[in-house]
Order: sequence, then structure tokens, then C-alpha cells
Amino acid sequence: MAFQNILTSSSDGITRITINRPDKLNALNLDTLLELGQAFEQAANDEEVRVVILTGSGEKAFVAGADISEINQLTAIEAKDFSELGQQLMLQIENLGKPVIAAVNGFALGGGCELALACPLRLASDNARFGLPEIKLGIMPGFGGTQRLVRMVGRAKTLEMTLTGNPITADVAQQLSLVSQVYSQAELQAQATKLAETLAQSAPIAMRHILHTVQHGSDLPLDAGLNMESHLFALCCSTHDMREGTTAFLEKRPAEFTGS
Ligand code: COA
Repeated sequence: MAFQNILTSSSDGITRITINRPDKLNALNLDTLLELGQAFEQAANDEEVRVVILTGSGEKAFVAGADISEINQLTAIEAKDFSELGQQLMLQIENLGKPVIAAVNGFALGGGCELALACPLRLASDNARFGLPEIKLGIMPGFGGTQRLVRMVGRAKTLEMTLTGNPITADVAQQLSLVSQVYSQAELQAQATKLAETLAQSAPIAMRHILHTVQHGSDLPLDAGLNMESHLFALCCSTHDMREGTTAFLEKRPAEFTGS
């Protein structure tokens, strides 16, 4: 499928999706949101794809937010639809059933920060900045930022970031566990690829169940989360990959997982 605002490539079980509007710091206009939805749907449906890397084009920005020139023209009804479309994309990424690595290579502001928060794994370059600056435009986050950030870093930091609109550095984001690793700009993409290569060799069904249990179980009371865990653990044990993984260990050889 030909895209105008994003680049996609796939090899060795890894799909790379690059938001490609560098002259607008990769701002998310409506067309870009729709194209991202299509690209993630393709990645979800393609059994060859085990892991996705999401990044931005250029050296300055991951995504500098939703496209302000489009927001400027929205009516309230259109704004509701726009917000729901963005929220839907974030849910699609979160529930893809395959790990998505955000390689945050610069500004991750507004919708860009929300996009990164929806990715199960986040790596950043040392020039990355995370922020929800919507308040400076007289609006508030609309792609899930108020809800995901508070679940990750608590109310005090979420309110500080959303009420002031001031961004935080990659190092602070790491201290807050918003990103798992910070690399130099030169290293980021290679490190994201290295992580993706590791995940591309992992058992896909077990990865899907881990993603689901951590994502959804953590919103449940502990006993319900544990119940979910034991059911999905049992499902893992019905797979060929469980036999392969455990047998390979006992036979002292590398496992070859097929996703069955
Ligand atoms: N929507 C639309 N266009 C955007 C954009 C956005 N969210 N963020 C940046 N751009 C555009 C700029 O308008 C500019 O376009 P132009 O060259 O046609 O004028 C281009 O990207 C480069 O941005 P510029 O502001 O010149 O870069 P900078 O290095 O001086 O500043 C930022 C970088 C990220 C600090 C600044 O662009 C910014 O504050 N962006 C908006 C962030 C935001 O509020 N996001 C939330 C939106 S809901």
C-alpha cells in the first residue's frame, strides 16, 4: 500500500514504521493518523511480522504533536471525532498483540508523547523531549495522555506536566520509567533494531499473552489479574512453542519458535 505521510519496511520479522513529515516535525494530521492505522493493521494481520519499530523522520522530532493547523479549524463535533480517532489508534497499538517499540528520536510532544505512551516499549535518544503542551494552546490532551500518563507516573507529575505544558528531558523520562533506555542519537536506531531482533526470535503467542496480561491485568484488582495470568499461562502451555522451548532447554540447544 502506498502511503504519503509514513514510510514502512519489513524484514526478518521486523516492521519499521517511520512518520515522515520532517518539515512539520512529523506532526500528526488526519491523513497521517489514518495511514498509521492502516500500517498497524497490516502489521497485526501479517503472521511474518513479530515486532514493530515506530519512529520519526529526521533528527529533530519523533512527533511534535497533532497538527495544530488542523486543530485550529475544528468545530467541537469534529474535535470529538478527531480525539476519538487518535484514541482509537493508541488503543490499536497498545492491543496489537505484538510488541511495538517506540524509538523516540527527538520531540515527543502532545500527540507524539501520547503515541509513545501507547507503545509497550520505549527507547529514547538523549535529545528527546517528552511533554503535553496542549495547555499552551488553550486545549488539553485528547489522544489518551491524561489517562495513560497518570497510570504511569501518578497524579502529581501528570498534573505538573499537563498544567504547565513544560517538557521533560529523556533522562527525567527514564527516571520516571517512561522510557526504559536512553541512547545517543547516533545509537538509537541500531539499539531499537537490536531489541527488535531479540523479540523477533521470541515465542509470539507467549509475547501476546504477556502484553495482554501486563496491559490489562494491571488495571484489575490483584486477584483478577492473577486469575488472568494463570489462564493465559495455561494457554501458553497448549502451544507447540511451549514444547519446543522447554525441550530445547533440556536438550541444550537454541529454541526455534514458530508461533504455533
Ligand atoms: N503542528 C503543526 N505544525 C507543527 C507542529 C505541530 N504540532 N510542530 C511543529 N510544526 C511545524 C512548524 O509550524 C514549522 O513549520 P513551518 O516551517 O512551515 O513554519 C515546522 O514544524 C518547524 O517547527 P518550528 O517551530 O520552526 O521548530 P522549532 O525548533 O523552532 O521548535 C518545537 C520546535 C517542537 C518546540 C515547536 O515546533 C513547537 O512548539 N511545536 C508545537 C508543539 C505542540 O504544541 N504540540 C502539541 C500539539 S496539540
